[in-house]
Amino acid sequence: MLAQCVVQDAKGYSDRSCQARWVSGVGEKHGGPNMPPTDIGDKGRIWETWAAIGAISQEHAMRSPARRILETPQSATIRIADLAATLRREGVDVLDFSAGRASEDSPLDICQVAADALMGGDTHQTMARGTPEFRQACALKLERENGVVCDPEREIVATMGCKHGLMLALLATVNPGDEVIVEDPCFVSYQAAIRYSGAVPVAVPMRRENRFRWTPEELETAVTDRTAAILYCSPHNPAGTVHTVGDLKVIAEVARRHDLVVIADETYDRLTWGTHVHACLAKLDGMAERTIGLMGVTKAFSMGGWRIGFAYANEEITTSMMTLQAHMNTCAGSFAQAGAAKALGDDPSAAVRGLWEDWRQRIELVVSAADALPMASCSMPEGSFYAWIDVGEMDVPTVELAERLLQEQHIALVPGSAFGPTGEGFLRMTCVKSWEDVRAGVARLEEGLTS
Ligand SMILES: Cc1ncc(COP(=O)(O)O)c(C=O)c1O
Repeated sequence: MLAQCVVQDAKGYSDRSCQARWVSGVGEKHGGPNMPPTDIGDKGRIWETWAAIGAISQEHAMRSPARRILETPQSATIRIADLAATLRREGVDVLDFSAGRASEDSPLDICQVAADALMGGDTHQTMARGTPEFRQACALKLERENGVVCDPEREIVATMGCKHGLMLALLATVNPGDEVIVEDPCFVSYQAAIRYSGAVPVAVPMRRENRFRWTPEELETAVTDRTAAILYCSPHNPAGTVHTVGDLKVIAEVARRHDLVVIADETYDRLTWGTHVHACLAKLDGMAERTIGLMGVTKAFSMGGWRIGFAYANEEITTSMMTLQAHMNTCAGSFAQAGAAKALGDDPSAAVRGLWEDWRQRIELVVSAADALPMASCSMPEGSFYAWIDVGEMDVPTVELAERLLQEQHIALVPGSAFGPTGEGFLRMTCVKSWEDVRAGVARLEEGLTS
């Protein structure tokens, strides 16, 4: 309970859209239509936004984090990462296959472009939508590789990575109390992002029997009159599914019938294997106006630290996302956009293509080794770079199994349940570590799962 709040004196500021205002004094009454009240006695209510503007004393903020934080479950991925870090501090040689991060650094030619931009004075804020050059490169990439035609002036916005693009997309399109249909299993940040937007995640299992895809009936049954959006990921993290045009038609039909927005996380779009190819939902009839595609450079170019990506959607949506961005973080990084424009605008270099092929071979090695284990099975992912190892036969909770592998074999894998209940019975192993680590990791996995 909040006993007292300290309020800064900045009279006269007033924001009509949310009815927030600065006041002078202690506990003065104020409020707005959408925010839950916090009890400060019989004087009135206080918004959570006060914490953000520094109006609540540090002491209070420390005593009582916002509800959205308290309601975010501690992820099993973080638990494994913490355990791995502790072991490392104790001097144990831990091989970490938990984070979705390749061992290679970003390509040097791309770094050079960003470094030149930085040294040449490209150190200032860009337009909130992103630099024209970056957006042009995104449009070129979309047309060249995905057959999607977008106007770089109106239909593309630079983001600080796909994750940030997702948050902007949700904030731009869903209202508190809306429902967002999401996959189970799904990327660990989806549920939290949906909740932070005030919406409610509705997880629809993608069953193993259906090769980790939704059926039309499963999807249709999840829709209620509160559903505002569908969020899906293809190529999929963690299950490796690459949606065919047929799979996408299932999503498109439901979205059109119920007038829903669809957020398509396409962050692994370049990483498809064998005959599988990435297809964009936005290309299907009537879907360009209701699809928000999220792409980036984190995965394919090993540029996760650059925090850069982009979203494409209709002008109204990208403009809303841009408005949010202008207030939240101003813009994506200037020289990061310069480097990423090089990555996206040009055809991938022979070196980058060679790296992807090398990754494919590492994935194959892990998959075939895991599949050869007596109590496990694994098939080549259609896309992304994870081995999704079925250990259901062992009948051990995967959180326990992952902890055991870490404590005894010193390898960090993510328990499938971290991605949702349907992920139970699986372990996720990132395969794009160095050959040396991958070989050693596979040997430790064999020992851990057979002993
Ligand atoms: C499905 C998915 N979406 C988004 C991200 C984050 O991408 P970015 O680094 O572009 O924010 C990840 C990274 O782990 C991911 O697996």
